[in-house]
Amino acid sequence: MLVLGIESSCDETGVALYDTHRGLLAHALHSQIDMHAAYGGVVPELASRDHIRRALPLTRQVLTQADKNLQDIEGIAYTQGPGLAGALLVGTSIAQSLAFALNVPSVGVHHLEGHLLAPLLEEHPPAFPFVALLVSGGHSQLMRVDGIGQYELLGDTLDDAAGEAFDKTAKLLGLGYPGGPALSRLAELGKPRFQLPRPMLNSPDLNFSFSGLKTAVLTLVNNQSSLDEETIQDIAWEFQESVTEILTLKCMKALKQTKLKRLVVSGGVGANRRLRERLNEAAAKRGVSVNYPRLEFCTDNGAMIAFAGAMRLHAMQPTLQNYSFSVRPRWDLAELKAPV
Ligand code: KG4
Ligand code: ZN
Repeated sequence: MLVLGIESSCDETGVALYDTHRGLLAHALHSQIDMHAAYGGVVPELASRDHIRRALPLTRQVLTQADKNLQDIEGIAYTQGPGLAGALLVGTSIAQSLAFALNVPSVGVHHLEGHLLAPLLEEHPPAFPFVALLVSGGHSQLMRVDGIGQYELLGDTLDDAAGEAFDKTAKLLGLGYPGGPALSRLAELGKPRFQLPRPMLNSPDLNFSFSGLKTAVLTLVNNQSSLDEETIQDIAWEFQESVTEILTLKCMKALKQTKLKRLVVSGGVGANRRLRERLNEAAAKRGVSVNYPRLEFCTDNGAMIAFAGAMRLHAMQPTLQNYSFSVRPRWDLAELKAPV
């Protein structure tokens, strides 16, 4: 089954073609980062308008790349939530209109299910069940995954998500938007000099809390006589050490608690080099495996939506298609069920 996937939940328009027999055939992405950078963050109305401009040209682009026509598409997947309401409506209405015109089934995909399943797009996909660490701009969750739609929440953030903590700390250090990747690049140049807390490192549960860490960075910044390049690098180093130590320890705790042998990491922060280094080291010590998506599929993309949608469309009984639609800007992943 050839499935077109459309992602438009935030500031990236992603489109991809996934074939349930042949795998990923093509994917294309347009990032709005340059457009939002001038405002220091995502401007929802501008995001929606840009998704309108990009979605169809990107669709044509992936069809050309895969040497396919619109008529070859057998199903359409789109991000239904969570995300920015206007941005979601653009992808959803384009997907539903195309599905109606082509008379093919469509499915609304949960953005986080897309992230969660992204490592399965790689050559040696992990088998179910596994523990998943989902660390994006909006979420920091540990999950037990037993199959498509079989997700049990093991731990969650009590306040800021890991990516959000990276972004807010980067802003405090004057690194602009989106700060996560910039902060991690500077951290690579830093050295041990400051001390920041490790919130909830030894709490008995699998929850996280990152907002205190951000406040500790603010206090540290205010106590510096000057915020020179070297000081910024050293603060970034210590901040990254704190976040990656907490994430690594909680992942190992989740593996121990569930007695599972596989860890899967996804979401934008999963691209962090230091996090990967620490997780690989800890996993090797425990004799467990770790899987990551390739770097470009850690952050938002259409391939993960095409894949998650294809898994659902493939498993679903064909029913009379209803092309009415709604989006779900807030949507709990634990509400999902296995496809029937
Ligand atoms: O998954 P994603 O693209 O979007 C959401 O669904 O939120 O994740 C974006 C988040 C941002 O907060 C960004 O700063 C963070 O992932 N991020 C990183 C890195 N690359 C992206 N954080 C730390 N280190 C990175 N290398
Ligand atoms: Zn995302």
